Amino acid sequence: MFITLEGPEGSGKTSQIPRLADALRAAGYKVLTTREPGGTLIGDQIRKVLFDLGNKAMQPRSEILLFQASRAQLVDEVIRPALAAGEVVLCDRYADSTMAYQGHGHGVDLAQLAELVRFATGGLKPDLTLFLDIKPKDGLRRRDADGNWNRLDDYDAEFHERVYGGYQKLIAAESQRWEVVDATRTPDEVAADLARKTLARLQSKERLV
Ligand code: TYD
Repeated sequence: MFITLEGPEGSGKTSQIPRLADALRAAGYKVLTTREPGGTLIGDQIRKVLFDLGNKAMQPRSEILLFQASRAQLVDEVIRPALAAGEVVLCDRYADSTMAYQGHGHGVDLAQLAELVRFATGGLKPDLTLFLDIKPKDGLRRRDADGNWNRLDDYDAEFHERVYGGYQKLIAAESQRWEVVDATRTPDEVAADLARKTLARLQSKERLV
C-alpha cells in the first residue's frame, strides 16, 4: 500500500513519519519511508538545487520540472520496487504537493501540471494520503523556530495561503483518498491519530483482498 503525507510548512510530517513507520512495524507490516524531493542519490542532488537560498532566479517552470525529475527517479528506483515486494511505502510529500504548491500556489495551469505529474509518476497514485492540518501562519511560525528555513519557505504569506486553499480543493475532489489529521495538537496525540487512521485503512484494504 502506497501512503503519502501532505501538509503546509511546519505541519510536523517529517518528525511524524518515523513514528508512524514504527507503529505500522509493531503491527507486523514491512515499511519503507522516503521523501520528496529526494529519496534517491539523484533526487537528493536535485533537492539541493531546489532549496538553495542562492537560487532566487529559479523560474516556476524550472522548479516544476526539477520536482518531477526527482519524483520520476524515486518512483522507479524506490517506490515501485518496494510496492512490488509487498511493503507499505510512506512518502513525505508526493504529487499533491505539486498541485498545491506549483498549481494553486504559483497559479500554473492545473490540467498541464496533472499531465506532467502523470508522466513523472507513470500514473502511480497513492492509496491513502494523510493531511496534517495546520494553518499556514502557525506552521511557518514553527518552521522559523526550528531553524530549517529554505528557499521555498521564503515565498510570501499569500502564497502559503493559496497552497493551503489548494489542499482543501484536492481533498474535496477525492475525499475517499484522504484522511485529515489535526496537526495543532501535541506530537503524541498526532502520532496516535495517524497510526489509528492508517491501521484502519490497511486493515480494511486487507479485508477487500
Ligand atoms: P521540506 O524541507 O521537505 O519540508 P516539509 O515537507 O516538511 O515542508 O520541504 C519541501 C518543500 O518543497 C516544501 O516547501 C514543499 C515543496 N514542494 C513543492 O513545492 N512541490 C512539490 O512537488 C514537492 C514534492 C515539494
